[in-house]
Amino acid sequence: MGNGANHNTSATPTDFVGRFCETPVQEAASDTDALQFQYEKLSPIQHIYVHIPFCARICPYCAFYKDLLDRSQTSRFCEALVRELVGRDRRARRLRPSTIYFGGGTPTVLNIAQLELLRCGFHEKLDLSELVEWTVEANPGSVSARKAAVLKKFGVNRISLGVQSWDGQLLELLGREHNAQQAEESFRILRTAGFTNINIDLMFGLPGQTASQWRASLEKTVALQPEHISTYCLTYEEDTEFFLRHAKGELRHDEHVEAEFFEMTMAILENAGYEQYEISNYARPGFESVHNRAYWLGEDYLGFGPSAVSTIGMRRWQNLCDYRAYSDRVLSDQSPCATIENLTDEMKRTERIALALRTRDGISASELKDSAQIDEFITLKLLRKSTDSFLLTRKGKALADSVAEAFV
Ligand SMILES: C[S@@+](CC[C@H](N)C(=O)[O-])C[C@H]1O[C@@H](n2cnc3c(N)ncnc32)[C@H](O)[C@@H]1O
Ligand code: SF4
Repeated sequence: MGNGANHNTSATPTDFVGRFCETPVQEAASDTDALQFQYEKLSPIQHIYVHIPFCARICPYCAFYKDLLDRSQTSRFCEALVRELVGRDRRARRLRPSTIYFGGGTPTVLNIAQLELLRCGFHEKLDLSELVEWTVEANPGSVSARKAAVLKKFGVNRISLGVQSWDGQLLELLGREHNAQQAEESFRILRTAGFTNINIDLMFGLPGQTASQWRASLEKTVALQPEHISTYCLTYEEDTEFFLRHAKGELRHDEHVEAEFFEMTMAILENAGYEQYEISNYARPGFESVHNRAYWLGEDYLGFGPSAVSTIGMRRWQNLCDYRAYSDRVLSDQSPCATIENLTDEMKRTERIALALRTRDGISASELKDSAQIDEFITLKLLRKSTDSFLLTRKGKALADSVAEAFV
């Protein structure tokens, strides 16, 4: 089934808006700072994504931009990140975000000194007076009580913990650093540190995963009572080891099984009081991610760090997918931007449809022009009308990407 899960690979427009390593190169990078500055004056940027590209080990299914942790590079990288926040000509840019999202890679592989460097930099360079949500992605292998305390001091109020599975064998297959016990311990450390908004990421449709393993993972997650749960169907991303193994027939997937697991997910999580507010995302009332909802609503955002994407108005640009070159550029006062793309109205509309259809609010009726197609989907019980918008039915959610494609 279509996943559209997380945050930043190269798949459909539904995937990973705001951070991905897609490469729709339209023109060479030019001065994005000036552009940014103009737009910020017109409409302040509310959402900031920050990419930390280091990982302690590389998972064989992962297509995000990341590199093996090299401790000799991380401090320099953190300095570059803080420098990028200010902009090259040091104009009095003082962003006032309402959300910040530190993703990766693995932000929690940074050591205490580097996290402190970022904390000071972000507090000094940004106006955080209107910040409502600051999320940091954490890997169970790299959470400690001290790091959790530093993140709390940061002002971070939401943690997204990459558990993926509670099954030891599947965690090994995924090449994860942690085991189930460490994941549980990390969750408890975060709770003890005072985090009251924790997301757990899980993956399903894993090779060989049985329905009872998936059910057990969901039940174990629910028992811990996180405020938010994201469930992503494994996608075989190009340029990954899993992709090659899948192409050779060593790893297989079965769409019927994936659909069955997706159904099971909705049933178990909704029964446990989590509302599915986006196809892959479930939250207790009031704990929907403000940052991710902003992406899905097509709001502007600025991305910092290597591979980070920014979208302001009809322009989208992406930083270099190479953290060394990124740091070199930023620290020598050059732009880290690699590509700039001019968006068209049609591209924006396509994205709006693909993203909004996946949410519980659905897509506004005025966006969907093809009434014959709408009628067909309604007859097939894939879509339903609600006041002025169209929503996917339960059956339609499993086919979200195909439904969206039919409208673009
Ligand atoms: C930025 S990624 C990784 C965050 C963190 N480094 C980790 O691994 O836990 C966010 C989430 O995307 C999901 N993900 C990554 N690769 C995926 C893939 N190929 N298919 C489906 N989900 C994927 C995982 O659930 C992961 O937690
Ligand atoms: S730890 Fe996360 S970001 Fe790093 S390789 Fe694994 S899945 Fe990708």
